[in-house]
Amino acid sequence: MDDTTEAQTTDHETRPRPPRGRTVHGEPANAGHRVLAPDDAEVEAYLEQALHAPPPMRAGEAPEGPDTVVIIDFGSQFAQLIARRVRELHVYSELLPHDTPWSEIARRRPKAIILSGGPASVYDEGAPRPDPAIWSGSVPVLGICYGLQLMAHELGGEVVASPKREYGPASVTLTDDDGLFTGLDRQQPVWMSHGDSIVRPPAGFHPTAQTDSTAFAGLSDPARGFYGIQFHPEVAHTPSGREVLRNFVVEIAGARQDWTPASFVETAVDEIARRVGDGRVICALSGGVDSAVAATLVHRAIGDQLTCIYVDHGLMRKRESELLRATFEEHLGMRLVMVDARDRFLRRLSGVEDPEEKRRIIGDEFIRVFEEEAGTLGQIDFLTQGTLYPDVIESKTAETKAAAKIKTHHNVGGLPADLRFQLIEPLRYLFKDEVRAVGMELGLPEAMVLRQPFPGPGLAIRIIGEVTAERLATLREADWIVIDEIKGAGLYRSLWQSFAILTPVRSVGVMGDGRTYANVVAIRAVTSDDGMTADWARLPYEVLARISSRIVNEVPGVNRVVYDISSKPPATIEWE
Ligand code: XMP
Repeated sequence: MDDTTEAQTTDHETRPRPPRGRTVHGEPANAGHRVLAPDDAEVEAYLEQALHAPPPMRAGEAPEGPDTVVIIDFGSQFAQLIARRVRELHVYSELLPHDTPWSEIARRRPKAIILSGGPASVYDEGAPRPDPAIWSGSVPVLGICYGLQLMAHELGGEVVASPKREYGPASVTLTDDDGLFTGLDRQQPVWMSHGDSIVRPPAGFHPTAQTDSTAFAGLSDPARGFYGIQFHPEVAHTPSGREVLRNFVVEIAGARQDWTPASFVETAVDEIARRVGDGRVICALSGGVDSAVAATLVHRAIGDQLTCIYVDHGLMRKRESELLRATFEEHLGMRLVMVDARDRFLRRLSGVEDPEEKRRIIGDEFIRVFEEEAGTLGQIDFLTQGTLYPDVIESKTAETKAAAKIKTHHNVGGLPADLRFQLIEPLRYLFKDEVRAVGMELGLPEAMVLRQPFPGPGLAIRIIGEVTAERLATLREADWIVIDEIKGAGLYRSLWQSFAILTPVRSVGVMGDGRTYANVVAIRAVTSDDGMTADWARLPYEVLARISSRIVNEVPGVNRVVYDISSKPPATIEWE
């Protein structure tokens, strides 16, 4: 992953946020009407609705077994990244809020604790602090940035507000070959971000690294297992950061590197089989990777006790529904209910041009179809969902959770409290990259596992104006060419999304001796880390040229292709 953008802001965010754009109607741009979530979450939420399932639980038991590193979150924007970096070392990590009591931390039997950075100063009123029991010395602790300052402050050192703020790239000199820096050159480029500075380390600590502006860019007290660094090892701008984390987690703390896709699959399958017993499970497939992986895990555990439902709304891309059927039904031998609802959706979308009306209709129709299908399946005990770890961590900001959005969309307040179903969320401790690795481990096809995000309402929101069978066919062909060429150029995985849009514009052209008056197709290709912001991709001209000439030659009714060079904000990724 490219961390460039992550490292462009600071833990000590003081700069004002740019004002949000406004629509031509004066409303805040992209406010509330976008489901900022993967298609899986959206489709799963429809099933949840249809079954009157309880909202997903956001607390739960962590997986048993793997050695664990606990990361205490003091509000750094990089906290999740620390957790991911540790997982990349094949060591399981969990991110816990700063006020987590020691009993909760100890229950996880951590091999090591990492204190994240954060925007506060140790002198702020109400500055976040960990449970002091973490200083007992029973578990090695690494403090990063604010985490180091806390360590210094709480253990008797002296921290002062520094007149010189250090933020951005810096060069650090490692003055001690202490365990954290084993194998590293003395001079290291790093990413710094701090306002306060340590002027006197606590008793027992010695300095291990310095920069021009601080003599205490690193401290350690190996006898008690306490280490601290002022720089951020988790961002790409600290090239040796992974080594530092490895030294701490593996060499100093002795964590076993056994958190692998294969070990996860084994444990998850056992756990699901134990929980479900002889119950029956239902799952909604959207074509996205999360639901595909969740369903495959559950199927491996309980076979035919799982039924998957896939609603073909006719708004999928070319060959997507076929791939899904081939994979799940033929290849994996799953019980799959494929509902051909193409006509129903088209009928309801007929004459509709407003994007939000399209979304509402599609959501509504989805729920109806699911209700009908689920009603024919008899007793269902469990509902499987592909909830991911970031959804769990971020549950306080339900903004990102499609289910919450859809519930408000459909005005379903006060769901019945009779817990008809229990939820099975086998991916709730995984990051997206890990879900993909598990998908590959389970033998799912690359086309499914490495798929770019695709919106729940599908091609309907990429046809500007009315959705008709003919316009869908045109867009599907153009979109296929875009993906084909992007994949052919080896660019598919480096892009967040790449697709075609059918605009409502017609333009004049010439073909042979004749004049044409035909559709304009737009191409959108963006890079992004999370879909919240995005930049248009600088696609090579040759790739654009091939896409363009193939579309106008191969797709009837299109005579012009344009490339969208807008970033988000102020534009959105989708056109509707
Ligand atoms: P925008 O267009 O808001 O999109 O920049 C951000 C991300 O969200 C996806 N998206 C949706 N996903 N249902 C979904 O499941 C939707 O209605 C929807 N609208 C946008 C979009 O594809 C991008 O990844």
